[in-house]
Amino acid sequence: MSDAWEKSAAAWIASQGDAGDFTRRYVLDAPMLARIEGRGFQCALDVGCGEGRFCRLIAPLVGSTTGIDPSPSLIAEAKRRDARGDYRVGHAEGLDFADRSFDLVISYLSLIDIDDIEPAIAEIARVLAPGGTLLIANLNSFNTANDGRGWRTDWRGRPRDFPIDAYLDARPVRAAWKGIDVVNWHRPMSTYMSLLIDAGLRLTLFQEPAPTGGDHAKADRYRRVPYAHVMEWQRD
Ligand SMILES: C[S@@+](CC[C@H](N)C(=O)[O-])C[C@H]1O[C@@H](n2cnc3c(N)ncnc32)[C@H](O)[C@@H]1O
Repeated sequence: MSDAWEKSAAAWIASQGDAGDFTRRYVLDAPMLARIEGRGFQCALDVGCGEGRFCRLIAPLVGSTTGIDPSPSLIAEAKRRDARGDYRVGHAEGLDFADRSFDLVISYLSLIDIDDIEPAIAEIARVLAPGGTLLIANLNSFNTANDGRGWRTDWRGRPRDFPIDAYLDARPVRAAWKGIDVVNWHRPMSTYMSLLIDAGLRLTLFQEPAPTGGDHAKADRYRRVPYAHVMEWQRD
């Protein structure tokens, strides 16, 4: 398995600060928190928790929180910021927990980072208790199908279009920004949906949140091209 996230850990931590980056702060945190608040979840697992920011945010809203991530440096930082929290080095493809251990499992922008998505989703479903909820924020597959050039600009330097190509072909895509250098996976939407359905889960919510603040030009780009979505799946 790649150690790209471990090598990028310091840059990732710097990029998130305390409040998270633009996507988290202005697009995804509010709808994710709204799905957790007041629902009485007892045991939450955050798969791919990074430096633990979302675990810290939900700690007052749930009974207990466990975060796992393959990067020892990110887990060390999570522990440093939240000494009483439960953070462990681990992979989604082999979760070290008993069946049906959690009534809430979260994947916050981590599915695209997981190399072997088939066992990962099977594992997530395995540790989810009957009646439990899987809450996913993921990059949209139309976005990850970008042809590698990102936004093309017009003669004034304004964003013109965002070409996508080879949509149906799953592939690793290098993503490098702010000193972070990792591999994301492009997979067609049907790959995720089919695996989740085949794992016995039922889709109960699908949202494509719009930015609620932040820099106007950036927010405009989020409105023009699909970026991220929030899904909630139930185990019956
Ligand atoms: C984009 S970051 C998101 C981190 C955090 N969820 C957040 O929103 O701030 C993706 C995370 O997925 C983790 N990751 C990569 N491969 C993984 C795997 N196989 N299983 C679980 N997490 C993985 C990375 O180490 C990284 O922390």
